Amino acid sequence: MLPDFFEFYSPTKIVYEAGVVSDLKPELDIIGIQKYFVISDHIIDDLGLVQKVADGLEAAGCEMVGKYLDVAQDARLNDVQTCAEKVKSSGAEGIISVGGGSVIDTAKAVNILFSVGGDLVEDYSGAHTLTQPLKPHVVVPTTAGTGSEVTFVAVIYDEENKEKLAFPDKFLMPNLAVLDPEMTVSLPPKMTAATGMDALTHAVEAYVGIQAAPISDVFALGAIELIMKYLKTATEDGQDIEARGAMLIAATMAGISFTHSMCGCVHGMAHATGALYRVPHGVANAIFLPFGMEYNFEEITERLARLASVMGEDVSGLSEEDAAKKAIEAVRKLTASLNKLDALSLRLSEVGVPEDGLADIAEGALNDGTSFYNPREVDPDELLPFIQRAF
Ligand SMILES: [Fe+2]
Repeated sequence: MLPDFFEFYSPTKIVYEAGVVSDLKPELDIIGIQKYFVISDHIIDDLGLVQKVADGLEAAGCEMVGKYLDVAQDARLNDVQTCAEKVKSSGAEGIISVGGGSVIDTAKAVNILFSVGGDLVEDYSGAHTLTQPLKPHVVVPTTAGTGSEVTFVAVIYDEENKEKLAFPDKFLMPNLAVLDPEMTVSLPPKMTAATGMDALTHAVEAYVGIQAAPISDVFALGAIELIMKYLKTATEDGQDIEARGAMLIAATMAGISFTHSMCGCVHGMAHATGALYRVPHGVANAIFLPFGMEYNFEEITERLARLASVMGEDVSGLSEEDAAKKAIEAVRKLTASLNKLDALSLRLSEVGVPEDGLADIAEGALNDGTSFYNPREVDPDELLPFIQRAF
Protein backbone atom coordinates (compact mmCIF):
# COMPACT_ATOMS: atom_id res chain seq x y z
CA MET A 1 0.00 0.00 0.00
CA LEU A 2 1.35 3.42 -0.91
CA PRO A 3 1.45 6.23 1.62
CA ASP A 4 -0.69 9.28 0.77
CA PHE A 5 2.30 11.54 1.27
CA PHE A 6 6.02 11.30 1.86
CA GLU A 7 9.10 13.36 1.17
CA PHE A 8 12.67 12.31 0.60
CA TYR A 9 15.67 14.60 0.98
CA SER A 10 19.22 13.31 1.18
CA PRO A 11 21.70 15.96 0.06
CA THR A 12 24.86 14.40 1.54
CA LYS A 13 27.32 13.24 -1.10
CA ILE A 14 28.76 9.82 -0.33
CA VAL A 15 32.13 8.54 -1.49
CA TYR A 16 33.25 5.00 -0.80
CA GLU A 17 36.65 3.39 -1.30
CA ALA A 18 39.24 1.66 0.86
CA GLY A 19 41.93 4.29 1.39
CA VAL A 20 39.87 7.19 0.01
CA VAL A 21 40.78 9.35 3.04
CA SER A 22 44.23 9.72 1.47
CA ASP A 23 42.79 10.71 -1.89
CA LEU A 24 40.18 13.39 -1.22
CA LYS A 25 41.36 16.09 -3.61
CA PRO A 26 38.54 15.73 -6.17
CA GLU A 27 35.90 15.98 -3.43
CA LEU A 28 37.54 18.79 -1.47
CA ASP A 29 38.09 20.76 -4.69
CA ILE A 30 34.34 20.68 -5.25
CA ILE A 31 33.67 21.97 -1.72
CA GLY A 32 36.21 24.68 -2.53
CA ILE A 33 37.67 25.62 0.86
CA GLN A 34 41.21 25.03 2.15
CA LYS A 35 41.16 25.43 5.93
CA TYR A 36 39.54 22.66 7.97
CA PHE A 37 39.11 22.18 11.72
CA VAL A 38 39.13 18.52 12.78
CA ILE A 39 36.82 17.26 15.56
CA SER A 40 37.49 13.81 16.98
CA ASP A 41 38.32 12.00 20.25
CA HIS A 42 41.48 10.74 21.93
CA ILE A 43 40.86 7.06 21.13
CA ILE A 44 40.59 7.83 17.43
CA ASP A 45 43.64 10.09 17.65
CA ASP A 46 45.70 7.40 19.44
CA LEU A 47 44.89 5.01 16.60
CA GLY A 48 46.54 7.45 14.19
CA LEU A 49 43.28 8.16 12.36
CA VAL A 50 43.30 11.93 12.92
CA GLN A 51 46.81 12.09 11.49
CA LYS A 52 45.63 10.06 8.50
CA VAL A 53 42.94 12.66 7.83
CA ALA A 54 45.44 15.52 8.33
CA ASP A 55 47.80 13.88 5.81
CA GLY A 56 44.89 13.43 3.41
CA LEU A 57 44.03 17.11 3.74
CA GLU A 58 47.60 18.13 3.00
CA ALA A 59 47.78 15.84 -0.03
CA ALA A 60 44.62 17.52 -1.31
CA GLY A 61 46.17 20.98 -0.95
CA CYS A 62 44.17 21.77 2.19
CA GLU A 63 45.20 22.39 5.76
CA MET A 64 44.18 21.26 9.25
CA VAL A 65 44.15 24.60 11.09
CA GLY A 66 43.16 23.13 14.45
CA LYS A 67 41.74 20.11 16.21
CA TYR A 68 39.50 19.29 19.17
CA LEU A 69 39.90 15.81 20.63
CA ASP A 70 38.01 16.03 23.92
CA VAL A 71 34.64 14.72 22.72
CA ALA A 72 33.31 12.35 25.43
CA GLN A 73 31.41 9.09 24.96
CA ASP A 74 28.22 11.13 24.88
CA ALA A 75 28.18 14.30 22.80
CA ARG A 76 28.12 16.94 25.56
CA LEU A 77 26.80 20.45 25.65
CA ASN A 78 29.95 21.82 27.32
CA ASP A 79 32.14 20.30 24.61
CA VAL A 80 30.02 21.95 21.93
CA GLN A 81 30.53 25.39 23.45
CA THR A 82 34.27 24.96 24.11
CA CYS A 83 34.93 23.44 20.72
CA ALA A 84 32.94 26.11 18.86
CA GLU A 85 35.15 28.84 20.39
CA LYS A 86 38.26 27.01 19.19
CA VAL A 87 36.88 26.57 15.69
CA LYS A 88 35.97 30.27 15.48
CA SER A 89 39.45 31.44 16.51
CA SER A 90 41.28 28.93 14.29
CA GLY A 91 40.54 30.64 11.00
CA ALA A 92 38.83 27.48 9.72
CA GLU A 93 36.43 27.65 6.79
CA GLY A 94 34.85 24.25 7.45
CA ILE A 95 34.81 21.20 9.74
CA ILE A 96 35.86 17.58 9.36
CA SER A 97 34.54 15.17 11.98
CA VAL A 98 36.37 11.88 12.41
CA GLY A 99 34.63 9.40 14.69
CA GLY A 100 31.38 7.74 15.72
CA GLY A 101 27.99 9.24 16.48
CA SER A 102 29.08 11.41 19.42
CA VAL A 103 31.87 13.05 17.45
CA ILE A 104 29.68 13.62 14.40
CA ASP A 105 26.78 14.98 16.47
CA THR A 106 29.13 17.28 18.39
CA ALA A 107 30.50 18.57 15.09
CA LYS A 108 26.99 19.20 13.74
CA ALA A 109 26.10 21.26 16.82
CA VAL A 110 29.47 23.06 16.76
CA ASN A 111 28.85 23.98 13.15
CA ILE A 112 25.66 25.82 14.15
CA LEU A 113 27.56 28.05 16.60
CA PHE A 114 30.51 28.39 14.22
CA SER A 115 28.38 29.32 11.20
CA VAL A 116 25.55 31.33 12.73
CA GLY A 117 26.58 32.01 16.35
CA GLY A 118 24.29 32.23 19.36
CA ASP A 119 23.55 29.80 22.17
CA LEU A 120 22.69 26.22 21.23
CA VAL A 121 19.91 25.65 23.79
CA GLU A 122 18.49 29.16 23.92
CA ASP A 123 18.47 29.84 20.19
CA TYR A 124 18.11 26.44 18.51
CA SER A 125 15.89 24.24 20.72
CA GLY A 126 12.96 22.75 18.87
CA ALA A 127 13.00 21.49 15.32
CA HIS A 128 14.15 23.11 12.09
CA THR A 129 15.12 26.44 13.61
CA LEU A 130 17.95 27.20 11.16
CA THR A 131 17.22 29.49 8.25
CA GLN A 132 20.45 29.20 6.28
CA PRO A 133 22.99 26.59 5.19
CA LEU A 134 25.95 26.08 7.53
CA LYS A 135 29.65 26.01 6.67
CA PRO A 136 30.96 22.83 4.98
CA HIS A 137 30.99 19.71 7.16
CA VAL A 138 32.80 16.59 5.98
CA VAL A 139 32.28 13.39 7.97
CA VAL A 140 34.66 10.45 8.17
CA PRO A 141 32.87 7.75 10.20
CA THR A 142 35.05 5.37 12.23
CA THR A 143 32.15 3.16 13.30
CA ALA A 144 29.43 1.56 11.18
CA GLY A 145 26.30 2.20 13.17
CA THR A 146 24.70 5.55 13.88
CA GLY A 147 24.33 6.73 10.30
CA SER A 148 24.83 10.26 11.65
CA GLU A 149 26.91 11.06 8.55
CA VAL A 150 23.66 11.32 6.57
CA THR A 151 21.04 12.24 9.18
CA PHE A 152 19.57 15.64 10.02
CA VAL A 153 19.77 15.38 13.79
CA ALA A 154 22.38 16.10 16.45
CA VAL A 155 21.76 14.53 19.85
CA ILE A 156 23.60 16.36 22.62
CA TYR A 157 23.73 15.42 26.32
CA ASP A 158 23.02 18.21 28.78
CA GLU A 159 25.06 17.16 31.83
CA GLU A 160 23.58 19.76 34.14
CA ASN A 161 19.96 18.75 33.56
CA LYS A 162 20.82 15.10 32.80
CA GLU A 163 18.86 14.99 29.58
CA LYS A 164 19.53 14.32 25.93
CA LEU A 165 18.59 17.19 23.65
CA ALA A 166 17.79 16.54 20.01
CA PHE A 167 18.37 19.22 17.38
CA PRO A 168 16.71 18.10 14.14
CA ASP A 169 17.35 20.39 11.19
CA LYS A 170 17.82 19.75 7.48
CA PHE A 171 20.78 22.13 7.44
CA LEU A 172 22.64 19.73 9.75
CA MET A 173 22.96 17.12 7.02
CA PRO A 174 26.70 17.00 6.25
CA ASN A 175 28.05 17.96 2.84
CA LEU A 176 30.17 14.87 2.35
CA ALA A 177 30.34 11.40 3.94
CA VAL A 178 33.67 9.67 3.38
CA LEU A 179 33.19 5.92 3.74
CA ASP A 180 36.66 4.42 4.03
CA PRO A 181 36.66 0.89 5.49
CA GLU A 182 40.32 1.28 6.46
CA MET A 183 39.12 3.82 9.05
CA THR A 184 37.05 1.13 10.84
CA VAL A 185 39.42 -1.87 10.92
CA SER A 186 40.63 -1.12 14.44
CA LEU A 187 37.13 -1.00 15.94
CA PRO A 188 37.06 -3.75 18.62
CA PRO A 189 34.64 -6.71 18.22
CA LYS A 190 32.23 -5.55 20.94
CA MET A 191 31.92 -2.08 19.40
CA THR A 192 31.60 -3.59 15.93
CA ALA A 193 28.76 -5.86 17.04
CA ALA A 194 26.90 -3.19 19.04
CA THR A 195 27.15 -0.45 16.42
CA GLY A 196 26.21 -2.92 13.67
CA MET A 197 23.10 -3.97 15.63
CA ASP A 198 22.21 -0.29 16.03
CA ALA A 199 22.31 0.02 12.23
CA LEU A 200 20.18 -3.11 11.83
CA THR A 201 17.65 -1.71 14.29
CA HIS A 202 17.49 1.58 12.36
CA ALA A 203 16.76 -0.28 9.14
CA VAL A 204 14.21 -2.71 10.60
CA GLU A 205 12.34 0.00 12.52
CA ALA A 206 12.36 2.30 9.47
CA TYR A 207 11.00 -0.52 7.33
CA VAL A 208 8.14 -1.48 9.67
CA GLY A 209 7.39 2.03 10.99
CA ILE A 210 4.29 4.05 10.21
CA GLN A 211 6.26 6.50 8.06
CA ALA A 212 7.78 3.81 5.82
CA ALA A 213 7.68 4.83 2.16
CA PRO A 214 8.90 3.23 -1.09
CA ILE A 215 12.15 5.21 -1.35
CA SER A 216 13.23 4.80 2.28
CA ASP A 217 12.23 1.10 2.04
CA VAL A 218 14.88 0.53 -0.61
CA PHE A 219 17.60 1.88 1.68
CA ALA A 220 16.29 -0.10 4.66
CA LEU A 221 16.13 -3.38 2.74
CA GLY A 222 19.57 -2.86 1.22
CA ALA A 223 21.04 -2.18 4.64
CA ILE A 224 19.38 -5.22 6.21
CA GLU A 225 20.66 -7.54 3.50
CA LEU A 226 24.25 -6.31 3.92
CA ILE A 227 24.17 -6.42 7.73
CA MET A 228 22.76 -9.96 7.88
CA LYS A 229 25.48 -11.06 5.49
CA TYR A 230 28.49 -9.19 6.88
CA LEU A 231 28.13 -8.20 10.54
CA LYS A 232 29.36 -11.51 11.93
CA THR A 233 32.42 -11.49 9.66
CA ALA A 234 33.23 -7.85 10.49
CA THR A 235 33.01 -8.73 14.20
CA GLU A 236 35.07 -11.90 13.87
CA ASP A 237 37.75 -10.53 11.59
CA GLY A 238 38.13 -6.77 11.88
CA GLN A 239 40.70 -6.72 9.10
CA ASP A 240 38.23 -8.02 6.52
CA ILE A 241 37.92 -4.94 4.31
CA GLU A 242 34.96 -6.29 2.35
CA ALA A 243 32.95 -6.90 5.54
CA ARG A 244 34.03 -3.56 7.02
CA GLY A 245 33.09 -1.79 3.80
CA ALA A 246 29.72 -3.53 3.59
CA MET A 247 28.93 -2.53 7.18
CA LEU A 248 29.89 1.11 6.55
CA ILE A 249 27.66 1.26 3.49
CA ALA A 250 24.84 -0.51 5.34
CA ALA A 251 24.99 1.86 8.31
CA THR A 252 24.81 4.84 5.96
CA MET A 253 21.89 3.32 4.05
CA ALA A 254 20.12 2.58 7.33
CA GLY A 255 20.78 6.20 8.34
CA ILE A 256 19.12 7.45 5.15
CA SER A 257 16.13 5.15 5.74
CA PHE A 258 15.48 6.11 9.36
CA THR A 259 16.08 9.81 8.86
CA HIS A 260 12.96 9.58 6.66
CA SER A 261 10.90 6.87 8.33
CA MET A 262 12.10 7.28 11.93
CA CYS A 263 12.55 4.58 14.58
CA GLY A 264 10.06 2.91 16.93
CA CYS A 265 9.70 1.23 20.32
CA VAL A 266 13.03 -0.66 20.19
CA HIS A 267 14.82 2.67 20.14
CA GLY A 268 12.38 3.95 22.76
CA MET A 269 13.34 1.12 25.12
CA ALA A 270 17.03 1.51 24.27
CA HIS A 271 16.97 5.25 24.95
CA ALA A 272 15.33 4.64 28.34
CA THR A 273 17.78 1.86 29.21
CA GLY A 274 20.70 4.05 28.20
CA ALA A 275 19.48 7.01 30.23
CA LEU A 276 18.60 4.97 33.34
CA TYR A 277 21.37 2.34 33.41
CA ARG A 278 24.06 3.62 31.00
CA VAL A 279 23.68 0.57 28.73
CA PRO A 280 25.39 1.36 25.39
CA HIS A 281 22.85 2.25 22.71
CA GLY A 282 23.73 -0.54 20.29
CA VAL A 283 23.78 -3.20 23.01
CA ALA A 284 20.32 -2.17 24.24
CA ASN A 285 18.97 -2.15 20.68
CA ALA A 286 20.40 -5.63 20.07
CA ILE A 287 18.73 -6.98 23.20
CA PHE A 288 15.36 -5.36 22.48
CA LEU A 289 15.10 -5.77 18.70
CA PRO A 290 13.54 -9.28 18.53
CA PHE A 291 11.17 -8.44 21.41
CA GLY A 292 10.13 -5.19 19.76
CA MET A 293 9.39 -7.11 16.54
CA GLU A 294 7.23 -9.47 18.60
CA TYR A 295 5.43 -6.60 20.34
CA ASN A 296 4.53 -5.11 16.94
CA PHE A 297 3.93 -8.50 15.28
CA GLU A 298 0.21 -8.21 14.47
CA GLU A 299 0.63 -4.78 12.87
CA ILE A 300 3.65 -5.69 10.76
CA THR A 301 3.22 -9.37 9.84
CA GLU A 302 3.26 -8.74 6.10
CA ARG A 303 6.37 -6.54 6.29
CA LEU A 304 8.19 -9.04 8.53
CA ALA A 305 7.37 -11.84 6.08
CA ARG A 306 9.06 -9.82 3.33
CA LEU A 307 12.02 -9.14 5.59
CA ALA A 308 12.59 -12.83 6.27
CA SER A 309 13.69 -13.58 2.71
CA VAL A 310 15.83 -10.43 2.57
CA MET A 311 17.47 -11.76 5.73
CA GLY A 312 18.35 -14.96 3.88
CA GLU A 313 15.65 -17.20 5.36
CA ASP A 314 13.90 -19.85 3.25
CA VAL A 315 10.21 -19.00 3.44
CA SER A 316 8.94 -21.11 0.55
CA GLY A 317 5.63 -22.75 1.35
CA LEU A 318 5.22 -20.90 4.63
CA SER A 319 2.18 -18.91 5.67
CA GLU A 320 2.66 -15.16 6.01
CA GLU A 321 2.66 -15.51 9.78
CA ASP A 322 5.27 -18.28 9.82
CA ALA A 323 7.44 -16.39 7.34
CA ALA A 324 7.21 -13.31 9.56
CA LYS A 325 8.37 -15.36 12.56
CA LYS A 326 11.42 -16.37 10.51
CA ALA A 327 12.54 -12.72 10.38
CA ILE A 328 12.56 -12.59 14.18
CA GLU A 329 14.37 -15.92 14.28
CA ALA A 330 16.97 -14.57 11.85
CA VAL A 331 17.70 -11.63 14.17
CA ARG A 332 18.02 -14.04 17.12
CA LYS A 333 20.40 -16.27 15.14
CA LEU A 334 22.56 -13.25 14.33
CA THR A 335 22.70 -11.96 17.92
CA ALA A 336 23.37 -15.50 19.19
CA SER A 337 26.30 -15.82 16.78
CA LEU A 338 27.70 -12.47 18.01
CA ASN A 339 27.19 -13.63 21.60
CA LYS A 340 29.15 -16.78 20.80
CA LEU A 341 32.03 -14.57 19.69
CA ASP A 342 31.81 -12.94 23.15
CA ALA A 343 30.98 -9.68 21.40
CA LEU A 344 27.37 -9.09 22.48
CA SER A 345 25.15 -9.58 25.53
CA LEU A 346 21.67 -10.95 24.95
CA ARG A 347 19.96 -10.18 28.27
CA LEU A 348 19.28 -7.06 30.29
CA SER A 349 20.39 -8.92 33.42
CA GLU A 350 23.88 -9.24 31.88
CA VAL A 351 24.32 -5.51 31.32
CA GLY A 352 23.53 -4.14 34.77
CA VAL A 353 19.79 -3.55 34.53
CA PRO A 354 18.01 -4.40 37.82
CA GLU A 355 14.78 -6.41 37.64
CA ASP A 356 12.87 -3.74 39.53
CA GLY A 357 13.84 -1.21 36.86
CA LEU A 358 11.96 -2.85 34.00
CA ALA A 359 8.71 -0.93 34.53
CA ASP A 360 10.67 2.33 34.32
CA ILE A 361 12.01 1.24 30.93
CA ALA A 362 8.46 0.61 29.68
CA GLU A 363 7.41 4.03 30.96
CA GLY A 364 10.50 5.62 29.38
CA ALA A 365 9.69 4.02 26.02
CA LEU A 366 6.24 5.61 26.12
CA ASN A 367 7.70 9.04 26.84
CA ASP A 368 10.35 8.74 24.13
CA GLY A 369 9.77 10.62 20.87
CA THR A 370 10.01 7.35 18.91
CA SER A 371 6.76 6.01 20.40
CA PHE A 372 4.91 8.33 18.03
CA TYR A 373 6.23 6.38 15.01
CA ASN A 374 5.82 2.84 16.33
CA PRO A 375 3.35 0.72 14.36
CA ARG A 376 1.55 -0.37 17.56
CA GLU A 377 0.57 2.06 20.26
CA VAL A 378 3.23 2.01 22.98
CA ASP A 379 1.38 0.96 26.12
CA PRO A 380 3.75 0.46 29.07
CA ASP A 381 1.59 -2.28 30.62
CA GLU A 382 1.46 -4.23 27.37
CA LEU A 383 5.14 -3.63 26.60
CA LEU A 384 6.37 -4.70 30.06
CA PRO A 385 6.04 -8.49 29.53
CA PHE A 386 8.28 -8.20 26.45
CA ILE A 387 10.86 -6.25 28.45
CA GLN A 388 10.66 -8.90 31.18
CA ARG A 389 11.42 -11.58 28.61
CA ALA A 390 14.48 -9.57 27.55
CA PHE A 391 15.69 -9.67 31.16
FE1 LIG B 1 20.20 4.12 16.99
